[in-house]
Amino acid sequence: MTVLELIERMAARLDEAGVSFGHGTTNARDEAAWLTLWALGLPLDDLDAVATRELDRADQARVNALIDERITTRLPAAYLTQEAWLQGVRFYVDERAIVPRSFIAELLADGSIDPWLGAHTRTVLDLCTGNGSLAVLAAMAYPDIHVDASDLSAEALEVARINVERHGLTQRIRLLHSDLFDAVRGRYDLILCNPPYVNTLSMAALPAEYQAEPELALAGGDDGMDLIRRILRQAPDHMNEQAVLVLEIGHERAHFEAAFPLLEAVWLDTSAGPDMVVLLTREALAAQTLLR
Ligand SMILES: C[S@@+](CC[C@H](N)C(=O)[O-])C[C@H]1O[C@@H](n2cnc3c(N)ncnc32)[C@H](O)[C@@H]1O
Repeated sequence: MTVLELIERMAARLDEAGVSFGHGTTNARDEAAWLTLWALGLPLDDLDAVATRELDRADQARVNALIDERITTRLPAAYLTQEAWLQGVRFYVDERAIVPRSFIAELLADGSIDPWLGAHTRTVLDLCTGNGSLAVLAAMAYPDIHVDASDLSAEALEVARINVERHGLTQRIRLLHSDLFDAVRGRYDLILCNPPYVNTLSMAALPAEYQAEPELALAGGDDGMDLIRRILRQAPDHMNEQAVLVLEIGHERAHFEAAFPLLEAVWLDTSAGPDMVVLLTREALAAQTLLR
């Protein structure tokens, strides 16, 4: 059996088992390809080069065992492989931190935020950093800036430390243990934030794969806006004059607009559409705070 044939067979098994996707892949075929190539120790980004390679029984058994584990545990593939890829960059992850999949990663890579940045941009805060992936991608995208990365979860910060060290960025990224801005000092030119924003109704319906992630990383209260209300209130005090906040809100745009009807917001286009990530200037945030 070839690599490609095995992938097709594994995809059929995942489909039949009804596993959920959304932690790096969106369908059974891509997930089967990822797990198959990973189990065989083959590069994940060049299936064409190995598609017709013949596999012996031991290889096939190794792949089948990993797919068995994926189906029986319902853990996201990234927790089984302990790696997640964002914008072609590999990150370590385990169950202490949510599997990274923020759309802010693609905005850092494609330059969508750059029109709001400039010579004045020296400091970035990655608020709610989780495994540290956005902090690392920001440090890579903007080689001259310093990044602070904060999280309430000490466990997530342990995972973030692994990533900061693996990417050789300990001199440029500082990790902070903080309840939102409580232990954050100073002001920033850019704040990135992918906070918990899943509303209570959606939390109750989450597939097992999402329930395997830390609840602290997902739950955002009745309308998903609990943390975001605090962030928007406190952010202006931590932003320089020309600073912007880039905030991911997932599928919660309706709740966001209901909670902040007067806020001037710029919606940034992502591969999942224009409703996922919003950019807010300090000026708009300060005006919103004054209106309260
Ligand atoms: C949706 S995850 C995002 C993680 C990471 N930025 C990413 O994109 O993969 C939200 C993160 O917020 C953290 N968090 C939850 N409540 C917090 C709070 N009050 N203060 C700081 N961080 C908090 C969680 O521990 C979690 O790591």
